[in-house]
Amino acid sequence: MGRRAVRNIHQGLDLTGKLLEFDELPNPWENAASLFDVDRPLEIEIGSGKGLFLRQATSWRPEHNFVGIEIAYKYARYAAANLIRDGRTNGVVVAGDGLRVFRELIPDASLEAVHVYFPDPWWKARHRRRRVLNEAFLTDVGRTLRPGGVLHFWTDVQEYYLTTLELIDELRAQPTPLPLDGPHPVPEPAPSEHDLDYLTHFERRTRQNGEPVYRSEFKKI
Ligand SMILES: C[S@@+](CC[C@H](N)C(=O)[O-])C[C@H]1O[C@@H](n2cnc3c(N)ncnc32)[C@H](O)[C@@H]1O
Repeated sequence: MGRRAVRNIHQGLDLTGKLLEFDELPNPWENAASLFDVDRPLEIEIGSGKGLFLRQATSWRPEHNFVGIEIAYKYARYAAANLIRDGRTNGVVVAGDGLRVFRELIPDASLEAVHVYFPDPWWKARHRRRRVLNEAFLTDVGRTLRPGGVLHFWTDVQEYYLTTLELIDELRAQPTPLPLDGPHPVPEPAPSEHDLDYLTHFERRTRQNGEPVYRSEFKKI
């Protein structure tokens, strides 16, 4: 499926402190509160795209902080600009590789939630290892969630969904078991009332096309 172009809005907007690159991130991460006006429990989304989830979640849960990580600079910029336009002080966007951020920066048991919505499916078998939900990242998710913290995973690709459930099962059977339970099913949302009444842009497109969405949650044991 192709993607809609990003409208070239927000020209001249100052994105300082809202759009960050890897080298600008707090290191050590224990100083991550400096990204926000107030220190709050932290949720991270990897693969934020144009940032609809960040817009929604920063409004729905003002008692939490949010970092969205998006590798495509133009989408990251668009998402950050929308957070500024909406006046959100509890969300920032990182333009960069989310796998690297988890691997190199995020400390153990520090996150309230990790969100992965409609990750790129990399259909061809020889490209599968590029998938975000791979063994190394899932291990990082298990390591970085606090006990009771939740991994949220939604996709429109049944094969990716089932393969990920299998991979999580395999990782639970390792000598150091992946400390995630689930999958806990997530109920189908109520019909949308307007064009932004969706969790993400890809969720909107999938539901508007009448196609199924596979949703699940995994809780850190
Ligand atoms: C199919 S889009 C889904 C976007 C959004 N989550 C949604 O549901 O509308 C997947 C996004 O993940 C981003 N992405 C892929 N690999 C990434 C990585 N390693 N780190 C951060 N973003 C990544 C892609 O650039 C793309 O914007």
